[in-house]
Amino acid sequence: MHKVIFDTDPGIDDAMALLFLHQHPQVDLVGITTVFGNGTIDTTTHNALYLKDVWNISAPVAKGAGVTLNPQRPAGEPPRMVHGDNALGNVEVPEATLSQPDGRSAHRFIIDMVRADPGEITIIAVGRMTNLALALREDPGIAGLVKQVIIMGGAFTVPGNVTPVAEANIWGDPEAADAVFTAPWKLVVVGLDVTMQTAMSRSHLAGLAARGGRRVELLAAISDFYIDFYSRFVDNAMVIHDSCACVYLVAPELFQTRSGAMRVVTDGIAIGQTIQKPDDRFFPPSPWDNHPSQLACVGIEVKKVLELIDHTL
Ligand code: BDR
Ligand code: CA
Repeated sequence: MHKVIFDTDPGIDDAMALLFLHQHPQVDLVGITTVFGNGTIDTTTHNALYLKDVWNISAPVAKGAGVTLNPQRPAGEPPRMVHGDNALGNVEVPEATLSQPDGRSAHRFIIDMVRADPGEITIIAVGRMTNLALALREDPGIAGLVKQVIIMGGAFTVPGNVTPVAEANIWGDPEAADAVFTAPWKLVVVGLDVTMQTAMSRSHLAGLAARGGRRVELLAAISDFYIDFYSRFVDNAMVIHDSCACVYLVAPELFQTRSGAMRVVTDGIAIGQTIQKPDDRFFPPSPWDNHPSQLACVGIEVKKVLELIDHTL
C-alpha cells in the first residue's frame, strides 16, 4: 500500500488525479495539501474541500501557500482560459463545504505526517512546489524521511507550455522547484515530455462517465471547458497531466526514465526552464555538481496508462 500526500491546485486535471488516487486499491491517501496555481489559494482549497465532500474522501485537506517562495516574485494571475474562473471549468460549486481545512498550514502538515511515519510517505506534487520548498526550509531533515517525491512539472526534451522552455508548475515558482529538485530525496519528474502524449478524448470521458456513475459524471462535466481549451493541441481531447504522476506511483514500469542532477533556471528569458545533466556525461565544474541524481520521465506507454486510468476511475 502506498501512503500518499497529494499536493495539488485543483484544477481540472488535478481533480481527475485526485479521484484516481482515491479509487486506486493500492493507494492510501493520507492527506491533500493545496497550493495556488490553477486558481488562487482560496479557490484551490475550496475546490479540494468540495471534491472531498462529493467524492467522500476521508483524507484531511490542509491549506497551503498562496504566494511564491521568493517574496519579490508576484504570484501571477490564474490561467482562467485553461481551467475556468473557478478552476473547475465554471461548473457551479457551492459556496459552503461540509469539510473544513485542517488547522495546520500545508507545509506544517507535510512535516508532521512525514515525521510521524518515517520512510513511508510518498508526496505527489502536481502544482507549484511552494509547499514542499517551505517544508524543506522549515525542517530539512524530512528529505531523508520521505519515501519518494513524484512531481508533475517541467519540460526537459520538449517545449514548455507557458514560455518556449517553461512548464506552468515550475514557471509559477522557479525558486521553489529548484529547491525541491536539488534536495536529497528520491525524486521523479513526470513532465510535459510524457504528459503531452496522454490525450483522453471527450467521447472516451463520456463513455467513462456512463459506466462510472456520478463521481465520473462530475469529472466529465468540469472537463468540458478544459477540452475546449486543449482542442487546439489535441483533437477534441484533454491532456491528463496530473494523473500521469499518480500512475507513475502504481505502475512505474509504464515509463522510461533518464537519470541526472536537475536544476531550474530562476531568472532571465529562460526562467522556469528545467535542465537535467545526464549522469553519463562529463562537464566541467557546474551548477549541477553536488546535487543528487534524480529521474526524469522521457517515455510513456500511453495506451496502457489510459487503460489503467479508465479502469481505476
Ligand atoms: C500543469 O499545470 C496545471 O495547469 C495543470 O493542473 C498541471 O498540473 C500542466 O502544466
Ligand atoms: Ca495541477
